[in-house]
Amino acid sequence: MGAPRGLPSCGAFSSMRQLTWLFLLLSAVLSAQPSPSPAPLIVNVEHRRANSLNGPWHYIVDAYDTGFFGYHGATRKDGFFRNAKPRTPADLVEYNFDDSPTLEVPGDWNSQKPELFFYEGTVWYEKTFTLHLNAGMRAFVYVGAANYFSRVYLNGELVCEHEGGFTPFNCEVTGRLKDGANFFVISVNNTRRRDGLPALNTDWWNYGGITRDVMLVEVPNIFIEDYFLALSRNMQEITGWLRLNGAGSGQTVKLRVPELKLEEILKSDSNGLAQIRIAVPKDIQLWSPENPKLYEVEFSNDAESLRDSIGFRTIETRGTDILLNRKPVFLRGISMHEEAPYRSGRAHGTKDSQVLLGWVQELRANFVRLAHYPHDEATTSLTDRLGILVWEEIPVYWNIDWNNPHTLAIARQQLQEMIQRDKNKASVILWSVGNETQLSEERLRFMRSLVGDARTMDSTRLITSALQPRSDVHLKVLDDPLGADLDVLGCNQYIGWYEGKPEDADATVWQSPYNKPLVMSEFGGDAKFGLHGKPDERWTEEYQENLYRHQLRMLDQIAFLRGMSPWILMDFRSPRRLLANIQGYYNRKGLISDHGEKKKAFYVLRSYYETKQQSH
Ligand code: GCU
Repeated sequence: MGAPRGLPSCGAFSSMRQLTWLFLLLSAVLSAQPSPSPAPLIVNVEHRRANSLNGPWHYIVDAYDTGFFGYHGATRKDGFFRNAKPRTPADLVEYNFDDSPTLEVPGDWNSQKPELFFYEGTVWYEKTFTLHLNAGMRAFVYVGAANYFSRVYLNGELVCEHEGGFTPFNCEVTGRLKDGANFFVISVNNTRRRDGLPALNTDWWNYGGITRDVMLVEVPNIFIEDYFLALSRNMQEITGWLRLNGAGSGQTVKLRVPELKLEEILKSDSNGLAQIRIAVPKDIQLWSPENPKLYEVEFSNDAESLRDSIGFRTIETRGTDILLNRKPVFLRGISMHEEAPYRSGRAHGTKDSQVLLGWVQELRANFVRLAHYPHDEATTSLTDRLGILVWEEIPVYWNIDWNNPHTLAIARQQLQEMIQRDKNKASVILWSVGNETQLSEERLRFMRSLVGDARTMDSTRLITSALQPRSDVHLKVLDDPLGADLDVLGCNQYIGWYEGKPEDADATVWQSPYNKPLVMSEFGGDAKFGLHGKPDERWTEEYQENLYRHQLRMLDQIAFLRGMSPWILMDFRSPRRLLANIQGYYNRKGLISDHGEKKKAFYVLRSYYETKQQSH
């Protein structure tokens, strides 16, 4: 690792004394600055002591980042995070949060304010809240997600910043909170970035803002930061680990699973880490779509007691089979964007998830692909309870800046945040490292490092990615070199929509050099609900219905197919879908319209899944 960026390398110094001096200066400067990176993610915030900061926040739309930079472009000291107020009638202060309008948090700004429908830039959010701190507790600001780049300020000080629009982050604010009124500001910028993740081009709306819950989490001085529990492959043990924050060695935590009569005293090492390995009774009820059994798990010591509901199951592959609890399973799925049902906008919270996953169940599906980014934790908590298997994905989408170290770092960070948040969700069986990424050496290197990270962080789940087949409409060869690194091959294809006619699928042959399961992760076509015509008339419900019939006939012929997630459950907004009277900024491949109306193809897929369900 060379000298820190911007500093001459060690060879440029004539004496060790000079180098030592520089090192001391650098560490003094850096330690004086608040570390802008978030604290390690706190898992299971749902069951922790927390003050919700949801609700109306004042906001200022700042397209020129005036809140950061003066007229000559230098960073201003009196930035909007200072809450400057005119002290005398003569004072010049050109902003005032108290008099500014409000946005609802959580919620994207595009769908709340017509003038922000297309807005890409900075919005300043402000909320003053009163708090009475409990002595001896530590406090963290937790943001479920904010798209895309956020800076969090408390009482005029930067406490942390975060890049990534779909994963949670938390910043420690212990010692910065006042007992009484606290001035809280978050700046969010949703401008697309060449080196971002996703990058400049996506087929979904760039909803900006604080799009998920914000809360103030209170924890003891030494607290349970993270843990991972999973059923071993041989189904005889629960294994994993627990990490304490703020602890040295020798701390103990009691782990209980009352219904299994399990109780174990965990002891942490010098890093606050405790290993977990507990024999389980033979009659443990395994989590499955048919029986989504969740066990109450409790971690406790004299400082805290933390509950969770965790399902225990195994997932693996054997040749081209996917085995759930050692039995072959077929993933009867559907893809789903995080688009709010009926109102459109970024979906969030349990209510939206209940509607969307209710439609997934109406399809007789047992599987959902959460495209193309991690969805709200409310969704993966609900899939755990409903028994819907999940493919979860980070937005390594289309054309990414493969050679940029920053882009790779952000991809690894978002992958880590996704896995950290959802690794105890039994319903999540697949981590996807990307979607439709063009073949190249740089891309392969980039994706392989993500696969490596995913395996290191979680050896219990399957790794996949939505690949694209080679060659033409009659012969599809799935020999993407990344396939060698995956457990399950994902594949997107659009025979009958972007290539050939729906009938061409009847004769298409599929080949793969890998002895691995295939999940057809996308296929479909657009239809405007209520537009009817002949099956060869594009945009009609009959065209989409006919396309599904031919696709399903082809899929039945693929010997190594073990699942599918057609594109897509519901129409969703996209800046790329511009056809007047038909699209109107919506991608119409949904089986359900943005108003919740079911198209004819919905019933084709449902009856196909009903048949599949009976035969498995
Ligand atoms: C692509 C892509 C989707 C997109 C879809 C479409 O495969 O993965 O994000 O919406 O095709 O073109 O409708």
